[in-house]
Amino acid sequence: MLDKNVKDLLNTQINKELYSAYLYLEFANFYEDEGLSGFNNWYTIQAQEERDHAMLMLKFLQMCGESIELLAIDKPEAELKTLMDPLQKAYEHEQYVTGLINNIYAAAYDVKDFKTMQFLDWFVKEQVEEEDNASTLIKKMELFGTDGKGLYMLDQELAGRTYSAPSLTLD
Ligand code: FEO
Repeated sequence: MLDKNVKDLLNTQINKELYSAYLYLEFANFYEDEGLSGFNNWYTIQAQEERDHAMLMLKFLQMCGESIELLAIDKPEAELKTLMDPLQKAYEHEQYVTGLINNIYAAAYDVKDFKTMQFLDWFVKEQVEEEDNASTLIKKMELFGTDGKGLYMLDQELAGRTYSAPSLTLD
């Protein structure tokens, strides 16, 4: 069993990760409507990764013998007007998620919950990658997105992203 606060934070994080998946599907739909199927592909895969994150949290709680309460997933809150909007909102969102992960880590640290800290190590590292990917996309859009040909090439690049399962597995 886990400390109640740590358990509750992990339980809530399942919901936050599923919300992230929802948010990225919203972005994918936006780009599809704009005729950018590569950007759609990028965020559809991103949504799959977020679902994986939720499932890892869920599996970890199950393995710790905890009961899980699935909470309602909010409607994605994002007003999307320009092609840059989703990229900026994604970066802000990943920074927010990093804060959430750090919060859980701090709660586990406070009660010397080493197994949760070890589990979360993967997420701490993953957030570095998530933020880096998000900020790199903004830079690429700033460099190439204002020119039609550049945008087309960037869309082609993002179309090449393929899904890979998380390197963390729990059995
Ligand atoms: Fe689950 Fe994008 O962090």
